[in-house]
Amino acid sequence: MKRGEFLRSLGLSTSTLMAFYCLGTTMTACGSKDDDPNPDPDPNPGTGSGSGISGTTTGTAINFTVDLTNSAVSKLKTNGESIITGDVLVAKTTAGSYVALTRICTHEGNEVRYRSTSNDVFCQTHGSTFTTAGAVTNGPATTALKTYNVTVSSDGNTLTVKA
Ligand code: FES
Repeated sequence: MKRGEFLRSLGLSTSTLMAFYCLGTTMTACGSKDDDPNPDPDPNPGTGSGSGISGTTTGTAINFTVDLTNSAVSKLKTNGESIITGDVLVAKTTAGSYVALTRICTHEGNEVRYRSTSNDVFCQTHGSTFTTAGAVTNGPATTALKTYNVTVSSDGNTLTVKA
């Protein structure tokens, strides 16, 4: 007897049966993110081996390094690219300088993103905009974003971001 026949013999409804199928070990019947043949690179790389990021990326003691030779974060070598790791947005501006700011909007705490098209920082929740130095350029936010110091190693391959 197949699994579906067995479950039907127990008198379970169709929706209940679907739930059982979805709980299968492969999750293929319901489709999972892993089905994407061309997944985008993780826009929010975490820390740990393989991420290219090591150190503290959350809280008040921000202090981490970004290994730009690591493919997970190497896009930061390109002007106009950015990543978010932990609580921090790191961007290489269209002018080629590195900036790091809190990713947490000062309005209501939603996530901000770097926009290369306007070389600014944008919160899509209510439309606040900030300069890459954190200053408010459009509300409703009224408080600047916290910024972090970014230093680049002499070989250009490592960023150090510190509070
Ligand atoms: S939370 Fe960012 S503008 Fe409201």
